[in-house]
Amino acid sequence: MKDISKGVFRLNTEEDTRRLGLEIARACEPGDIIALIGDLGTGKTALTKYIAEGLGVTEDVISPTFTIVKEYRSGRLPLFHFDVYRLSSGEELLDIGAEDYLEGKGVSVIEWADIVADVLPEDALIVSLEYAEDGNARTASVM
Ligand SMILES: Nc1ncnc2c1ncn2[C@@H]1O[C@H](COP(=O)(O)OP(=O)(O)OP(=O)(O)O)[C@@H](O)[C@H]1O
Ligand SMILES: [Mg+2]
Repeated sequence: MKDISKGVFRLNTEEDTRRLGLEIARACEPGDIIALIGDLGTGKTALTKYIAEGLGVTEDVISPTFTIVKEYRSGRLPLFHFDVYRLSSGEELLDIGAEDYLEGKGVSVIEWADIVADVLPEDALIVSLEYAEDGNARTASVM
């Protein structure tokens, strides 16, 4: 991944989340892994949609909760969008053949990445989303 500013950012509106997604997309290189952590509704899927937009994905990005992974190939790089909410370990992620994606030439974005953290590489970009006090505000810790 190219240089990207790390730190804690306040996302007051969804437009701020969009800007973060576009910035992440600009930095993406083949094989990058983006680990999204955060409670229900904090905006993991929203951020993924904006990363997809930044990559130039033209298909609608919908949550892959039931399929674990969806791939989109219309952008600058392939996007592999995981939602591992229904898994209980990294081992289960490998059991479904995720290595081919994770080690492939696309960008893997993983919702609920904390569940599978043990099988993710150390250089994955981690984005942890949390609710702030105001309804639409979030904080994003980019690590
Ligand atoms: N600042 C913000 N950033 C992101 N989303 C926001 C923001 N403010 C409001 N929202 C809304 O919050 C919701 C976030 O839902 P989203 O599905 O992206 O969350 P999620 O973390 O993927 O949830 P889940 O754990 O169910 O997968 C969306 O309806 C979005 O429009
Ligand atoms: Mg989601």
